[in-house]
Amino acid sequence: MVWVDGELLPRARAVVSVFDSGFVLGDGVWEGLRVSGGHPVFLEQHLDRLEEGARALLIDLPTREQLTEAVYATLRANDMLDGVHVRLMVTRGVKSTPYQDPRVTVGPATVVAIAEHKEPLPATVTEGITLFTTHVRRAHPDTLDPRLNAHSKLNDVTACIQAYTAGADEALMLDPDGFVATCNSTHFFLVTRAGEVWTSDGRYCLGGITRANVLEVCRRHDLPARERTFSLTDVYNAAEAFVTGTFAGVVPVRTVDGRTIGTGARGPVVKRLQGLYQELVAEDVASRAAR
Ligand SMILES: Cc1ncc(COP(=O)(O)O)c(C=O)c1O
Repeated sequence: MVWVDGELLPRARAVVSVFDSGFVLGDGVWEGLRVSGGHPVFLEQHLDRLEEGARALLIDLPTREQLTEAVYATLRANDMLDGVHVRLMVTRGVKSTPYQDPRVTVGPATVVAIAEHKEPLPATVTEGITLFTTHVRRAHPDTLDPRLNAHSKLNDVTACIQAYTAGADEALMLDPDGFVATCNSTHFFLVTRAGEVWTSDGRYCLGGITRANVLEVCRRHDLPARERTFSLTDVYNAAEAFVTGTFAGVVPVRTVDGRTIGTGARGPVVKRLQGLYQELVAEDVASRAAR
């Protein structure tokens, strides 16, 4: 069952109008949430990011309580507890005509929540993925702010197409100056030969929730971690590399542009971070269950 504007509908009938701002223009914001023990993990961080995007785009969001209820009601209707991924999408609403100007929007924001049983492949988590550096750059914030988790993902989609047509799993994306920024649907990290964890300075990527939580885990466990500018030469010479995202957590990277990273197998730091990140998830779920 899919939540569409307050109604729970079977998948085949879960539809929005062809006049919806999301359909016409990609004019909306969304979140991908992981569910464990019946609870959406790091819910407040996701709602904060959704609200930030909506505020920047002048989209009138329902309240946090209403959005939270949409997620929980969808989980209850599907009897879903674990191994669940939720896509919460909010668009500007239905328009009177297919035209760009937000002022031709006639309805309230459209809210959709899709919950599905969806797990990463075990091999992805243990053996990792391959990356290909795409020519598609991250945009400057005055072109299309990379901080926005907008419905329009064409910047990432074109990067993704180039990566898979080159035979890789995910695209590594550079900032406008040619430094490493992020990936098309995850954030990129490397581990230097000296054992430091590096991720980009963050100026050209989404405010990643898993990225922030992995940095927090590093701080808590005295793992030296830095947000800094670095190039592909640093990547090719890394001891280990990994990507982060809500769906699969921490995922090792085997190769980048045909270069084997480290030994090509999941390294000790990545394995440790996978465990520590899972502990943080479990802590979050336990605190929700206790409320
Ligand atoms: C472009 C992009 N990068 C990274 C991520 C992963 O971010 P998070 O860790 O918040 O799921 C996403 C997820 O929405 C994304 O769309």
